[in-house]
Amino acid sequence: MTDTLRTCVFPCAGFGTRFFPATKVIPKEMLPLVDKPILQYGIEEARDSGMNKLVIVTSKGKDTILDHFDRTAELERSLRERNKHDLLAEVDLVSRMVDLISVRQKEALGLGHAVLTARDAVGNHPFAVVLPDDVILAEEPCLLQMRRVFEETGRPVIALMEVSAEETSRYGIVAGELESGRRFKVTDMVEKPKANAPSRYAIIGRYILPPEVFPLIEQTERGAGGEIQLTDALRALVQQGDFYGYVFEGTRYDAGEKLGYLKATVDYALRHPQLAREFRAYLESVAAPPAVTAPESETVAAS
Ligand code: G1P
Repeated sequence: MTDTLRTCVFPCAGFGTRFFPATKVIPKEMLPLVDKPILQYGIEEARDSGMNKLVIVTSKGKDTILDHFDRTAELERSLRERNKHDLLAEVDLVSRMVDLISVRQKEALGLGHAVLTARDAVGNHPFAVVLPDDVILAEEPCLLQMRRVFEETGRPVIALMEVSAEETSRYGIVAGELESGRRFKVTDMVEKPKANAPSRYAIIGRYILPPEVFPLIEQTERGAGGEIQLTDALRALVQQGDFYGYVFEGTRYDAGEKLGYLKATVDYALRHPQLAREFRAYLESVAAPPAVTAPESETVAAS
């Protein structure tokens, strides 16, 4: 019987340099994707996958993240007095959504270090990690798809996506083989390989890990980019027993950079109950190809 999975860690301490200047002051996790901050998508995914203890790893200047999920008594009172019940319900929904635990990463030492910062909050239980930049649009939440593998096997599971050979240097890449369906048996992994990537399966920011990973992160030396990489600690974890990847069903957007964010905005807006129809009409109007007038000779030939 596997220990129940109910904790999810959200590393939110990065500088967001890929989105400058927008993220100079505003945390990138708070940029709106249509009408919700990016982080809220990850939080809803975790909640819909059965997690109810959410740990946010922040850094200096990121307090608005916590404010967003807190009660806002004054705003609620004002909305109530003005009979804005719809808005009140939305504000209320966000603050009642989940209880958050916040921990501070005092130095920007990388993803592995951010996860280690959450150690006391997580305790001696398995936990999930969601990287909020990786927004995943899916019928069934990505983390829930992975949770099934964890419950079947009791072993670590990471999200995988096939990428092109040119893109492998931008991700953690696994070695191993696809076992059956979407389940992948991981035998090794490497963070952002410059050459000789062991496969084209990239790690996407969803992990289900046992608490045994914490001492391994502690022993991890600085790796790619001079940072303590989670991938390097997971490499050590692979040596301790079965380790799975799951090629999830869904579309992933890198909402932490400008183009990925724009794509996510369009796709989510096209699914928004109140906006989809008019937004689609607008996109069609701007994307309509310019009218082509056929050259005379072609017109003659065709007739
Ligand atoms: C992190 C991980 C990397 C993974 C990626 C997915 O990298 O270190 O293994 O492939 O997230 O988004 P980052 O994008 O934070 O540099």
